[in-house]
Amino acid sequence: MTKIITISNQKGGVGKTTTATNLAHRLNLKGNSALIVDFDPQGQCSTALGVVSENGVFNLMVANSSPGQWVRKTGREGLHIIPGDRTTATAQIVLTAENRPITSVQDALKPLYKDYDYIIFDTAPSIGGLQERAIWASNLVLLATATEYLSSDGLAQIMKLLHSLVEKGWKGKLAGILPTFYDQQTNESRETLAQLKEGFGDSILSPIHRATVLRECAADGVTIFEKAPKSRAAKEYAALADYIHTL
Ligand SMILES: Nc1ncnc2c1ncn2[C@@H]1O[C@H](COP(=O)(O)OP(=O)(O)OP(=O)(O)O)[C@@H](O)[C@H]1O
Ligand SMILES: [Mg+2]
Repeated sequence: MTKIITISNQKGGVGKTTTATNLAHRLNLKGNSALIVDFDPQGQCSTALGVVSENGVFNLMVANSSPGQWVRKTGREGLHIIPGDRTTATAQIVLTAENRPITSVQDALKPLYKDYDYIIFDTAPSIGGLQERAIWASNLVLLATATEYLSSDGLAQIMKLLHSLVEKGWKGKLAGILPTFYDQQTNESRETLAQLKEGFGDSILSPIHRATVLRECAADGVTIFEKAPKSRAAKEYAALADYIHTL
């Protein structure tokens, strides 16, 4: 069965896109076919993978069309993307204005399920119609959160959203909360991680350390497994993918 995972947090710059692209690539390198769908109008999954951003998500959600035509290759065998760009924001408005059902993302992508072992949704730093519908279509939600003061603020709101979706009949679950930008040299990181563990217990996954090489990857349009496969960041994202694979 296809495993569908939403990477979420309404807070910006916490490592969602970095996680979506590196997780997808690692799962792919382990022999799984994977599709990334970029639900963020910033379209940064494309840049991160070195492909052109396009209005794929807009067409997927608004044009009544077969989803396969919006799938693009990434130059990596078995790793594909439906790219997004700023027109994704228009799709979001249309979904809300037309009061499209909570199943709209699921309905739009269902014909592709048979082609992929994993489908990974990157989302914008906000909570809105697209996020809700993406989560509804997902088996798993992975929340990325920076280990910085106040950055866990947004988590409560997403947890509330997850609870409200469960009440509406959503069958998925939280895969975990992924602490990012971890730096054990700073009190800020250590204290924030401790607070996260206090608040969310076993849901807190092993942190991804702050690593300049991850920033360089994004700039070069390559993943950590291409740029620095032996780095700590690569090992950490590999461990995350292995864990996700067990769920
Ligand atoms: N662990 C890390 N260490 C250092 N830099 C990182 C790390 N993770 C991500 N980055 C860099 O930080 C910036 C923000 O990361 P990213 O784009 O993944 O966050 P995001 O949550 O997707 O942001 P947005 O909410 O704007 O979509 C990028 O330049 C990225 O390369
Ligand atoms: Mg992003």
